[in-house]
Amino acid sequence: EKGTYPHFMLKEIDEQPFVIRKIIQEYKNENDEIKLDLDIRQAMKNCDRIYIIAAGTSYHAGLLGKQFIEKLANIPVEVHVASEFSYNMPLLSEKPLFLFISQSGETADSRSVLVQIKELGHPALTLTNVPGSTLSREANYTMHLHAGPEIAVASTKAYTAQMAVLAILAVDTARAKGLELEFDPMQELGIAANAMEALTDQKEELEELAREYLPTTRNCFFIGRSVDHYVGLEGSLKLKEISYIQAEGFAGGELKHGTIALIEDGTPVIALATQENVNYSIRGNVQEVEARGANSLIISMKGLDKEGDAFVIPYVHHLLTPLVSVIPLQLISYYAALHRDCDVDKPRNLAKSVTVE
Ligand code: M6R
Repeated sequence: EKGTYPHFMLKEIDEQPFVIRKIIQEYKNENDEIKLDLDIRQAMKNCDRIYIIAAGTSYHAGLLGKQFIEKLANIPVEVHVASEFSYNMPLLSEKPLFLFISQSGETADSRSVLVQIKELGHPALTLTNVPGSTLSREANYTMHLHAGPEIAVASTKAYTAQMAVLAILAVDTARAKGLELEFDPMQELGIAANAMEALTDQKEELEELAREYLPTTRNCFFIGRSVDHYVGLEGSLKLKEISYIQAEGFAGGELKHGTIALIEDGTPVIALATQENVNYSIRGNVQEVEARGANSLIISMKGLDKEGDAFVIPYVHHLLTPLVSVIPLQLISYYAALHRDCDVDKPRNLAKSVTVE
């Protein structure tokens, strides 16, 4: 039920900090250690490469999952769009583990990959919000997202839940392999949840930004480097799917290789600047688009912010900024769609779960 909320999407955006806290509880034992099915731990430890298979927003979470698993657990990861995998299967490693990420657990494109890899005899782990779903039943192992029912077609809380569960999984694997880590996922996720909650209280400010930057525009670009690039891809999907503004996300460094030709007077460009190692270069990209007339909106993180940034998120661990930086993007998309009288929860031409290939 929506309760007092005008739309499920807004309710689900607001639920995100609580979902993260729920995940912390669900994946912790009484000794404050990570609680995980021993078979999953063993499968992660035994594999020599992970193949993430997903679609849409879940694919974007997979791109960030790759960062967690490679950086923390030191296992190579490939991320594949499910619909492309079947006829473009890469050369597989000797001991692959397939990781399906799906809110619904019913996405047909992912299901067909699961059938295919099971025939080859490879193990599969599904991360899903619906434990009884097809992808969950047919895989060897399942991890539950604990996000509660997600009704709006635009995925919000499943995305942040997927990232939180992937971070926990990566740390658990690292520990199982005996790797030394300074990163405490439960503590850092708790800090991220507080930051997310603070941002959901800043709706008026974000509505104002949507009004100021996206009132009548036909297009909008998102730029970022490193993880900010992946969050930009998710921001652009959110915006296009519910407001019908043509939106694209680009890696900051790729602009000069073509995309910058699209920048005109007044083109909105949303830039993410949450990573210290690329802060200087992404700000350089913003200057380049501004010099061509772009109307830029910078979302940065406390400690890396500069005068003139439109919105500053609280400071969180650099691996977990996506959980927090996506909130202003979700809310800006929501208000942009609302201002255009779009059907926020049920955008045209889309279904909540895509059960045909
Ligand atoms: O249920 P799934 O996570 O497998 O769904 C995948 C995509 O269809 C889904 O994320 C879609 O892109 C959303 N509408 C995005 O908001």
